[in-house]
Amino acid sequence: MSSTFPLKGKKIIIGVTGSIAAYKSAELVRLLVKEGTMVRVVMTCSATTFISPLTLSVLSKSDVISEINANEHWNNHVELGLWADLMIIAPCTANTLSKMANGLCDNMLLATYLSAKCPVVVAPAMDLDMYKHPSTKQNINTLVKYKNHVLNAPKGELASGLHGEGRMQEPSDIVAWASSFLSGKQLFKNKHFLITAGPTYEAIDPVRYIGNHSSGKMGFALAEEAAKQGAKVTLISGPVALEIQHPNIQRIDVVSADQMFKACKKHFKKADVLIKSAAVADFKPQVAKTNKIKTKKNLTITLDENQDILKYLGTKKTKKQFIVGFALESQSGETFAKEKIKKKNLDLIVLNSLKDKGAGFGHNTNKVTLIDSSFKSKKLPLMAKSKVAKYILSAISDCIL
Ligand code: CTP
Repeated sequence: MSSTFPLKGKKIIIGVTGSIAAYKSAELVRLLVKEGTMVRVVMTCSATTFISPLTLSVLSKSDVISEINANEHWNNHVELGLWADLMIIAPCTANTLSKMANGLCDNMLLATYLSAKCPVVVAPAMDLDMYKHPSTKQNINTLVKYKNHVLNAPKGELASGLHGEGRMQEPSDIVAWASSFLSGKQLFKNKHFLITAGPTYEAIDPVRYIGNHSSGKMGFALAEEAAKQGAKVTLISGPVALEIQHPNIQRIDVVSADQMFKACKKHFKKADVLIKSAAVADFKPQVAKTNKIKTKKNLTITLDENQDILKYLGTKKTKKQFIVGFALESQSGETFAKEKIKKKNLDLIVLNSLKDKGAGFGHNTNKVTLIDSSFKSKKLPLMAKSKVAKYILSAISDCIL
C-alpha cells in the first residue's frame, strides 16, 4: 500500500441512486480513476434516468451493473461485495437510505450493499425537509449503528431552488475522505477528543454582546483532522459560520463562556484529549439587561471575570488525559505561553502570534509555535490551518501513543 497515494490500486464500488446529484457521480468516478483506483459502478434503475450508464461505464472503464438479470451475472452482487475495499453510495436518496436501514433488497445496488464485506460510506442527497425528517434521521442513525459511515449533506442551494442542508458532498471531498480512510492512518482509533472552537459572546442586552474575532477555523480543522485519523470527536463551538464534514464529529453549539464551561464539564470525563482552541471571552457583563439599553451619552458596564475553563479542567485532569491549550500573545510569547503551561497544568500549548501576517483570527493560514510541558518548542512556518492541525495532532500522538 502506498501511503502517498492511498487510493492507488484500491477497489471501490460506486453505488448511484436516483437523485439529480447523480450527475456528480461522473466526476467522482473520474477523480477516483485518476488516482489509480479500480472502480465498478452499480446503479439503481431510477439513477439511469438521471445519468447514462454509458457515461459511467466509459469513465470507470468497466461495465455498469444496474439490474438483477437472471440470465447474465445474476450473482454479481456477491462477487462485487467480496471484491471491493470500499463501497461509496453517492448520491444516496432518502428512499435508498430507508431501504438500507431496513434490509430491503429489490435492486442490484441493495443486494451488493447487503453482500458487501468492505466498509460502506454513504453520501446522502435530498431536499432539506426530507433530510430533516425524523424518519431520515432515524435511518441515518441505524446505518451508523450498522458501522456504515454517513457523510453529512452540507447546506447550499438545492435542486428545488430552496436553500438548506441536503446537498451531496462534493466529489473531491468524498475522494479526500476515502483517501484518508484507506490510508489506514487511523492513529487515534478508540480515542475520544474534546475540542473547543470559535469565540464566545457575552450578552450586554438582547441586541449587543462582547465578543472577539475568532472564526473557529483552527478548531474545526483540528476536529476534522482528528476524526480523519480515527478519533471520536466532541466539538463544542461558539457562534461561527462553519460546517462540520466528518461523521465522527458530534457538534455542540454554545454562545457564552458559561455555556461552554457547562458543556466542557459534561464531556471532559470521557475525553482522552482536550484541545482548547476556543477564544473564550475573559469577562462578561455583571448583568445582561433584559430590555435593549436606550441610547445615552455615557454607559458604564460592570464586567465580571469568566471562569477560566482550561484552568479548571487542568485541575481535574487524570494521568490518562492530555490537555492542549492555546495562547494568543502580542509580546514575549514564549515566556507567557510557558507560564500558562504551568498555571493551567497543560501538556502542550499552541502559541499564536498576533504580529505575523496571515496568522491568527479569520485567516485560512496560521503560524504557530508548539511548546510541550518540558518547554521544548517547535516553531512552524506559515501554513494552511488544516496542515497546522496535522502538526498539532502529530505532536499529540508522539506523546500519547
Ligand atoms: N481559556 C479558557 N477559559 C477562559 C479563557 C481562556 O478556557 N475563560 C483558554 C483558551 O481556550 C486558551 C487558553 O485558555 O486555550 C489561553 O487563552 P488566552 O486568552 O491566551 O489566555 P488567558 O488565560 O485568557 O490569559 P491572558 O488573556 O491574560 O493572556
